[in-house]
Amino acid sequence: MSTAKETRRLGVPDLRARKGGEPIVSLTAYTTPTAKLLDPHVDLMLVGDSLGMVVYGFDSTLPVTLDMMIAHGAAVVRGTRRACVVVDLPFASYQESPQQAFRAAARVMAETGAQAVKLEGGVEMAESVAFLTARGIPVLGHVGLMPQSVNTLGGYKAVGRDAAAAERVRADARAIADAGAFAMVVEGTMESLARTITEEVPVPTIGIGGSPACDGQVLVTDDLLGLFSDFTPKFVKRYAAVGQTISEAAAAYAAEVRSRTFPGPEHCFGMKKPG
Ligand code: KIV
Repeated sequence: MSTAKETRRLGVPDLRARKGGEPIVSLTAYTTPTAKLLDPHVDLMLVGDSLGMVVYGFDSTLPVTLDMMIAHGAAVVRGTRRACVVVDLPFASYQESPQQAFRAAARVMAETGAQAVKLEGGVEMAESVAFLTARGIPVLGHVGLMPQSVNTLGGYKAVGRDAAAAERVRADARAIADAGAFAMVVEGTMESLARTITEEVPVPTIGIGGSPACDGQVLVTDDLLGLFSDFTPKFVKRYAAVGQTISEAAAAYAAEVRSRTFPGPEHCFGMKKPG
């Protein structure tokens, strides 16, 4: 059983060994202060390309660049001592070929200090997953709803709703597990499908809109905190209302500045006393 006091950094083999055992707790982080707050509580800290929507205000994850992921990945590694840090490869940095994927992933590993990369895709990405894994780069897969494919999927909708679509997601999961992915995110699929995949693949599944049967769960931290409210998927549970707290604090500050009650004497510097 892991505890908040544990300070050894969890590695990929530790997470891989959680298959069917203690659930893997995962959240996203994009900055050092957030990473420091989450680190005692999570096993896998994901620097997700969701930062494009959550931090930068893009409509999708597609404009996110490798340089952005590297800057945020390094910031998150600086804020963690215990969690295994995984950085997303962004759109167009890996889909072209295994060699392109290797160059992008190698930069992430060398320039951030993260333990692994994540990439989206199934059967079509299996060759790249095998190429990276064989060359010392652990890969977290991502199947089901793949946000970088929003234009071919036609929106952020659950996938695998009919038998043929479900069979494709199962084949994707098997392909990347066979190729050497150490675990995989299963996003936005039918509960029964996520459960079946978890039974079928020998590596941990990490659900987001998946199933409680998955070997772990991940959420976007800003969703869980109530900080990002542009769009809230069905699978999000809000554990706090930090957005409301920020808004109330800003309103209180604005009122005090306008009424000249802030700054008070205790916030002002006085002259040094002589002698
Ligand atoms: O980009 C991201 O944050 C993700 C998680 C939602 C799994 O891929």
